[in-house]
Amino acid sequence: PDPERDRLIQAYDLSAKYYHYLLKNTEYGTAAMEYLRNRGFSDKMIDQFQIGYAPDRWDTLLQFLEKRGFDLAEMEKGGLLSARGEGKGYLDRFRGRVIFPIANRMGKTIAFAGRIFGEGQPKYLNSPESRLFNKSRILYNLHQSKASIRKTRQIVLFEGYGDVISAWDAGVHNGVATMGTSLTEGHVALMKSLGDEIVLSYDGDKAGQAAALKAIPILEASGLRVKVALLPSGLDPDEFITRHGGDRFREQVIDSAVSSIKFKLIYLKKNHILLEEDGKIAYVKEALEIIAGLPSSTEREVYLREIASELELSYDSLKQDCNLLRASMQ
Ligand code: UTP
Ligand code: MN
Ligand code: MN
Ligand code: MN
Ligand code: MN
Repeated sequence: PDPERDRLIQAYDLSAKYYHYLLKNTEYGTAAMEYLRNRGFSDKMIDQFQIGYAPDRWDTLLQFLEKRGFDLAEMEKGGLLSARGEGKGYLDRFRGRVIFPIANRMGKTIAFAGRIFGEGQPKYLNSPESRLFNKSRILYNLHQSKASIRKTRQIVLFEGYGDVISAWDAGVHNGVATMGTSLTEGHVALMKSLGDEIVLSYDGDKAGQAAALKAIPILEASGLRVKVALLPSGLDPDEFITRHGGDRFREQVIDSAVSSIKFKLIYLKKNHILLEEDGKIAYVKEALEIIAGLPSSTEREVYLREIASELELSYDSLKQDCNLLRASMQ
């Protein structure tokens, strides 16, 4: 029994309901509601993910919690309130932000992410780590997606809250997100306990691609199969869905995800100018280093033949170089 933990869980539960109510049913929430509508969030999505709004005032949640008899120092430690800079007292931690409740795998709210939608920094303010919230062990939306994950043995991994929510609306019910881009061993162990295959669906910008490249070896080392969903440059999954619709997202992005090897080859190719001999040779050299490491000779042949036809090279010479490289790797 851990009464402090129980009280904090109760406070988060009540606060999430309160913020959701303020968004939907009061004047305070009008601007936030308009912001969400413009992003394409329907009432259904707002309800399903219990999205809320924290008014731009100092003491909205403070008064709410105080009236219900919560200990304010305890609430500050748990991340719902902040200590005032000077002197004594507390104020709301989240002010003027859209609230995304973060739940543990049992579905209990244990943290908030608050998104600013006017001017201001940071874009997302999260609850601090607490006795409830350990960022490196929590995956956003795992409580709602675990049923679908168990059935399909597949997990779609996103970077952001909006990506998970829009994908859910598009029929992708096995999506989760880390809070930020870095994947920890804790996340990997959690995913490994539920599924066999990860579809990386990170943002289609440089940061997202680099994060995918970094995540692949960590996931594969744990024995998970990895595929990568490709997005047109610049868009994140949420933006893709808003622009092109959910059907196209499922068919052309998630169901068309490529193998991790294919992703690495595509990524590599972008960094070389293939119309020039130097660029072509450098690309082939780096590609061979990836392919030579594949244990299956069938797989090696598939990728070598692709590169051969793409660059108008002979399969035999590629194979020869690949075998030399393999020999030097042993
Ligand atoms: P992004 O910058 O891609 O944000 O960061 P986003 O999810 O697309 O946000 P929207 O669509 O503009 O609302 C990806 C994730 O990184 C974390 C959040 O989890 C975010 O969803 N992040 C980002 C933060 O924690 N703090 C930040 O200030 C920014
Ligand atoms: Mn509701
Ligand atoms: Mn991003
Ligand atoms: Mn994004
Ligand atoms: Mn986004």
